[in-house]
Amino acid sequence: MSEPLTIALNRGRILEECLPMLAEAGIEPAESMAGSRKLIFDSACGRARLVVVRGSDVPVYVEYGAADLGITGKDTLLEYGDGDFYERLDLNIARCRIMTAVPVGRAAGAVPTQGTLRVATKYVNIAKAYFAEQGRQVEVIKLSGAMEIAPVMGLADLIVDVVDTGNTLKANGLQAAEQIADISSRVIVNRASQKMRFAEVEALLDRLRQVVAARRQPSAGRRSSA
Ligand code: PRP
Repeated sequence: MSEPLTIALNRGRILEECLPMLAEAGIEPAESMAGSRKLIFDSACGRARLVVVRGSDVPVYVEYGAADLGITGKDTLLEYGDGDFYERLDLNIARCRIMTAVPVGRAAGAVPTQGTLRVATKYVNIAKAYFAEQGRQVEVIKLSGAMEIAPVMGLADLIVDVVDTGNTLKANGLQAAEQIADISSRVIVNRASQKMRFAEVEALLDRLRQVVAARRQPSAGRRSSA
């Protein structure tokens, strides 16, 4: 049997949502991931190896060929930019939007009375591209998390972040303003693996495609909460 296909998985919410889909596609970890400190898991079928990494590292593993495939959010891929890999499948999980958000009561797109509009985000590239496209001059401040408190802390006029239910914004006195992109989790494939392991990659993608299609049926009626 050939080497197992290595699949880099985005830890956290995306991992939780994609594991059942992988299981339906025939790939399950040989031992439970829950509560484990391990980061590399063989699959029970022996055809795959699952590697759990930070979302922003998934495209890195796939681009450099340390993983054959990866599963991460479209937000991570947009922020990563033109990676040297193929984006092959939308898993339709962990759906959300990237949006600008402003303090409640402030008009979307309002400019500060003084100086340049300041935007706090962990999506620096996405934010810069969005405002540049609009011809709006902004200063983008990089944060690693908890963007929602930046306006009240006087650090920024607005934020760019992923929004699902909007509860986090609301709890921090913010409201969603402009939508930048629709987000869901995607399967990406290393370019060399796509060629060299074509049959295995396509077989897995076909099985996952069937899982996605089955979940789209009204009777399946399932929408991600992420
Ligand atoms: C994201 C995002 C918000 C929250 C939005 O964080 O940064 O904090 O989800 O969801 P809501 O609209 O349903 O409230 P996540 O939990 O993904 O973790 P992160 O901070 O690591 O991005």
